Amino acid sequence: MSFTIVQEATARINRSELAVPGSQAKLFEKAAVSAADVIFLDLEDSVAPDEKPQARRNVIAAINDIDWGTKTLSVRINGLDTHFMYRDVVDVLEQTRGRLDLFMIPKVGTAADVYAVDMLTTQIEAAMGRGKRLGFELIIETALGLANVEAIAGASRRNESLHFGVADFSASTRARTTNIGGANPNYAVLTDRDGDRPRDTHWGDQWHYAIARMVVAARANGLRPIDGPFGDFGDADGYRAAAHRATAIGCEGKWAIHPSQVGLANEVCSPSDKEVGKARRILAAMEQAQAEGKGAVSLDGRLIDLASIRQAEALVRKAEQITAGAR
Ligand code: COA
Ligand code: MG
Repeated sequence: MSFTIVQEATARINRSELAVPGSQAKLFEKAAVSAADVIFLDLEDSVAPDEKPQARRNVIAAINDIDWGTKTLSVRINGLDTHFMYRDVVDVLEQTRGRLDLFMIPKVGTAADVYAVDMLTTQIEAAMGRGKRLGFELIIETALGLANVEAIAGASRRNESLHFGVADFSASTRARTTNIGGANPNYAVLTDRDGDRPRDTHWGDQWHYAIARMVVAARANGLRPIDGPFGDFGDADGYRAAAHRATAIGCEGKWAIHPSQVGLANEVCSPSDKEVGKARRILAAMEQAQAEGKGAVSLDGRLIDLASIRQAEALVRKAEQITAGAR
């Protein structure tokens, strides 16, 4: 290990994160009784400019009046390039009590963007005597944001998670996409010519670089990496595949833009009984190995060593958190 210890952000279950437009107050109660781990009430891009003031009022009332149970509750404020953001922060923090957990900051481009919202939030919390410190979730969804992702991840002690916003990222990088978060058949490898044999096309994951880079920046700063939306909410298999790809490289959760995606995210992002069972066997085998003075042994014909303990411990800890959260 490095002599530098990575401080982990506040631990939260963050498998599914349901987006709810702030202008659609009729959806709030449905969201509150859903199985989503985190809910973000949106004041940004799902709300038309003329509806911003009403959406803000809806969200404030919802934070104060709705029973959100044990869910983590977030508000997505508008971007720093708009004239809506300051009032989102001021009104939400001045007019709600302590139920809100997080602000989600969209289109973060530099560490200074986070610093600015931190400064404003800190002043209002102090002025209002708010006891609970709000956390931040940051969306990486522009070329500038990805270029500065390491500095952004370390920009505030409020930071808890980084989210990959695929739609705006595509717009920012001019990537050609088909549906939000889906695959593009043109991002593919054509196998070489081989006589008369038909050639194969292997679809690739055009988001790999961006998500992988975000995962590293998040983990190096003790934050949760979370994958963003998948627009085709009728395609459960497509959603599952995207969620599996993201979790395979370290993401902890994925957004849901429709209630039907919440269960899919919870399913893919929870360690399975089989995985937990295997992890417990690894821990038992390593305990035995260490008692015998060995650092590496074989289990089921495969090498396990001290790194396997860390992986297994992380998995068991996550499973225990989920079980505790479900109680
Ligand atoms: N949160 C809570 N409930 C939701 C919901 C959400 N995000 N989206 C849909 N529902 C509810 C509907 O009200 C409906 O309830 P009912 O059966 O009691 O009438 C039910 O789930 C099924 O909805 P459905 O009719 O299939 O979808 P729709 O056509 O009404 O809405 C969307 C589709 C995509 C417009 C809607 O899901 C939505 O607004 N999603 C969030 C978009 C968003 O926040 N984007 C910003 C982040 S990317
Ligand atoms: Mg966006």
